[in-house]
Amino acid sequence: MNAPYGKPTLHPARNAPSWPPMPAFDNPLRQQTRRVPEPCTLVIFGATGDLTHRKLIPALYANAAAGTLPEGTRVVGFARRDKDDTGWRAELAESNQSHARCGHDAETWDRFSASLSYHRGDLNDPAAYQGLAERLDAITKETGNGNRLFYLSIAPKFFPVALEQLKAAGLNEGRDGGWARAIVEKPFGTDLASAHELNQVVAETFHEADTYRIDHYLGKETAQNIMVLRFANAIFEPLWRARFIDNVQITCAEQYGMEGGRGGYYDTAGAARDMVQNHLLQLLSLVAMEPPTDLSADSVRDEKVKVLRSLRQMDARGVADNVVRAQYTSGAIGGKTVPGYREEERVAPDSETEPYVAIRAFIDNWRWEGCPFYIRMGKRLPVKATEISLQFKRPPDVLFQRMPSGGRGNVLTIRIQPDEGSALRMLSKTPGTDLQIEEVNMDFSYHESFEVGAPEAYERLLLDAMAGDATLFARRDEVENAWRYIDAIEAAWHDNPRPPAMAEYPAGSWGPAEADLLLAEFGHRWRKPGQPLDNSKT
Ligand code: BG6
Repeated sequence: MNAPYGKPTLHPARNAPSWPPMPAFDNPLRQQTRRVPEPCTLVIFGATGDLTHRKLIPALYANAAAGTLPEGTRVVGFARRDKDDTGWRAELAESNQSHARCGHDAETWDRFSASLSYHRGDLNDPAAYQGLAERLDAITKETGNGNRLFYLSIAPKFFPVALEQLKAAGLNEGRDGGWARAIVEKPFGTDLASAHELNQVVAETFHEADTYRIDHYLGKETAQNIMVLRFANAIFEPLWRARFIDNVQITCAEQYGMEGGRGGYYDTAGAARDMVQNHLLQLLSLVAMEPPTDLSADSVRDEKVKVLRSLRQMDARGVADNVVRAQYTSGAIGGKTVPGYREEERVAPDSETEPYVAIRAFIDNWRWEGCPFYIRMGKRLPVKATEISLQFKRPPDVLFQRMPSGGRGNVLTIRIQPDEGSALRMLSKTPGTDLQIEEVNMDFSYHESFEVGAPEAYERLLLDAMAGDATLFARRDEVENAWRYIDAIEAAWHDNPRPPAMAEYPAGSWGPAEADLLLAEFGHRWRKPGQPLDNSKT
């Protein structure tokens, strides 16, 4: 006991710990057991579609070439078109030649393609699923492996029927002690109500733990690195909060417009539904979340959901004040004249859909109170680049008032793509007798540091689903909370007697002036991705 006014005696534990320091990983819940991909039969619904040709087969091929595809994996393509195994393989060989990340090697392809077979069937026809079940049983008999992974790479309107039919055919269970899992492609619903309904249908067929809602941005190497950057380095996390960060920007710029008939789908969606609801809100959650207790799928996703739930919901007035939507008019990209959005193929001439959106979002929690998160996504911008930047607060204007560009201070930039890496902008004295200050960059580039190309997102995600690791897939509540946020924006645009105007920007420019004003109101400026130093001057 301390005497009331005497010298306090310290509790012994404060002076010298009476127990040894906790060894790393002594808590079984925290141990990082790496899950190993297991062989399975992967059934691709939508076997003749674009995604299968451009992404899924090249990703499986790359894994096979790298020796990471589990031995004994089989792939069955399910689609309506009349073709056989040989025809499907030939078609895939051709597309793989254009899309294989590390080049197409005939010998490796021959070995890999022996595992591919085609099952002709109509998604609405129960007999097609019975036939599929028999085919899968025959494979199980031959390989002794009863694991099944169903990949729904089909138009979303077919998700429910495919899931119901899988269940009716008993395909939602593995065979011989194996598992059955489903990967569901985006778009996962078109609003909260449809996503909720779809989640119900999925839940009637597959357990949540066996459901893998894909968001390919989470599979990008640089998106995975956000957690490592934040939590494996001690220097960033103490500053990673509104007290030290002035604003956060997440920009996804694309040069593409509506090529290849994409306008048909896109004009029903728009930038907020197509990219913000999923990819950009996922990036925002990774940047803003609290450290998870461990790296298990649910611990990580619990933290991401908290961020989504803390996003400040907007009413119509809030949307008018904090969101800019825009369409591009005709302009030039790379010296080529391109049409305006409303003149694009399969886009309505009086379309009210936005190929560009900029949002000033707020996360109402202790860490981020008052710090704006600017999110923008636009088609037909000057470059293709996705970048996150954290603008730190300025130092006090006491010593170095004449800093370049108004003394905008430090910026940490995470280049999601291309030129994957990160950079920290600092200010430095230039050599000489004068006190001149300039911006300099500390830059980390994946290509320079590791000398290997980053794997494609689908390579990683397919292996994760085979391993039963859902960390990089969206959980049900993540999807629904993200829709809740987007629904309020869509409602202000479409169910509102006085919707905010649609702004315009020429194709090839950095977007509408209204989006610049959105930042200027708070004394901020957009960074232009792809340019390391202060590039915000227009
Ligand atoms: C898709 C969107 O999910 O992502 C497209 O539907 C978009 O509109 C694409 O172009 C972007 O992906 P990435 O990996 O090329 O940035």
